[in-house]
This record gives sequence, C-alpha cells and structure tokens, in this order.
Amino acid sequence: MKKIGIIVGSLREQSYNRMIAATVPELSLDEEAAYEYISIADLPLYNADIDVGDGPEAVRLYREAIRGADGLLIVSPEYNSGIPGVLKNALDWASTPTRSAALIHKPVGIVGATPGPKGTILSQQQIRQTLEATQAWVLPFQKMYISQVMEKVDAERGRLTDETTLKYLKRYVQTLLRWIDQSRGLQ
Ligand SMILES: Cc1cc2nc3c(=O)[nH]c(=O)nc-3n(C[C@H](O)[C@H](O)[C@H](O)COP(=O)(O)O)c2cc1C
Repeated sequence: MKKIGIIVGSLREQSYNRMIAATVPELSLDEEAAYEYISIADLPLYNADIDVGDGPEAVRLYREAIRGADGLLIVSPEYNSGIPGVLKNALDWASTPTRSAALIHKPVGIVGATPGPKGTILSQQQIRQTLEATQAWVLPFQKMYISQVMEKVDAERGRLTDETTLKYLKRYVQTLLRWIDQSRGLQ
C-alpha cells in the first residue's frame, strides 16, 4: 500500500485547506492508501548556519517523514498572489542537502483552496516552480483548484462536502497514486 504524506500550507486551526486535507483519507478510492500528515508548524526559519548534519530535531523529523512517503500531497492557500511563506520555508528545508534532499525524485501533487474566485492558480504556479527546482516530480497533467471554498465545506465537521469538488478531489488523488507508479520509470 502506498503512503501519502500530506502537507498543509496554512498553520491556521480553522484552515479551509486543512479541511480539504482532512477529507482526503476519507475518499473511497479505487486503490487503498495510507496517509500521514506532515506538520510544518515547528520548523525554524531556514538558515544555512543551522542546516548542518541532520539539522534541528524538527527538521530531522520532517525530512524523515517526507523520505518515508511514496508521494506527497500539498494542500495550500495563496497569499498575495503567491506561495505562503511557511510553505516555502518548509520546501526549502526539504531541498537540502543538495545531493540527498528529501524532495529529490519525490512524486508530488498540489491542491489549493481559497474563498476567492481564482482557486490559488498563482500560488500553485510558485509551488510548482519551487518543487521543480528541488527535482521533485510534480504531477504534470492535472490541476486541482478550489474556489469559493466556504460554500463547499461543512466548517463544523471540518470536511469538504460539495459533491462535484469531492469527485474532482478523488480523481486528483487517484491520478497522484498512478503518478507514483509512472514516475518510478523516470529514475
Ligand atoms: C496575507 C494574506 C494574503 C492573501 N492573499 C490571497 C491571494 O492572493 N489570493 C487568494 O485567493 N486569497 C488570498 N488570501 C485569502 C486566503 O485565501 C484565505 O485567508 C484562506 O482562508 C487562507 O487559507 P486557509 O483557510 O487554508 O488558512 C490571503 C490571506 C492572507 C492572510
């Protein structure tokens, strides 16, 4: 069974993106998978001076979790037409050491949700750009944008409830699982 590490690009407790992420393990997919949430909340700000050896303990655990996953799913908001700083910081920590970084050849899918109308398009472009710089293998042929997210969730339960969006999310995660198989052929 494949293991998917889920990284949420918002630290907010009532985060819509966290609600989307919490829905993923409950989708009934054709292929069963295991899921692990990889927290980025305790990572220090990236500083090459402390990026020595295994780095700080929070970084070591975070990198280990990424290494242990067959693929990653990033679920992130957009801030000021771009990638949230906390997520960029986390991706930078997973991009070193240069030759053995946790993100190298890691299959990654990107999902984003916003109360706004444009579905995090600009944020996802920057996330993709950063991941490509790290040599991660970003799912190339499908995108998943969730706009007007407040109308598509049950905020009390913290879950995505909109039927159409659930269908697209299911299709996206299934494509990511297939991408993990396909990308093995790239090595
Ligand atoms: C500093 C800041 C900048 C934002 N910029 C954007 C933006 O460029 N595009 C967008 O769609 N939403 C933007 N928003 C609104 C976020 O999409 C909204 O706060 C969303 O709920 C954050 O995601 P979360 O619910 O997962 O925490 C911004 C919010 C903040 C706090």
